[in-house]
Amino acid sequence: MTGGVWVATRRVLGVPYKAMAMVCLCHGVNERRVRRTIEAGATTIDDVTAACRAGGTCHGCHPTIDRLLADAHAPVTVRPAFGLAT
Ligand code: FES
Repeated sequence: MTGGVWVATRRVLGVPYKAMAMVCLCHGVNERRVRRTIEAGATTIDDVTAACRAGGTCHGCHPTIDRLLADAHAPVTVRPAFGLAT
């Protein structure tokens, strides 16, 4: 589907909308910043807080940061293509 409304809701200022979703309201940290912090090596909420301050005040965003950490460190399951199973 293409069209102005769809494009406007998926991208804001050239950045995918989801990446701009605010994770930590106390410190104004969005999802993209937290993901980049995790990609840079953060493995715990304390690591994320030390790197970008997200999660350092009310702890209300800890479940979201925890989910992003779990997503980033989840094992990837690769299934063989049909007919190639051993
Ligand atoms: S919302 Fe993240 S510390 Fe308060």
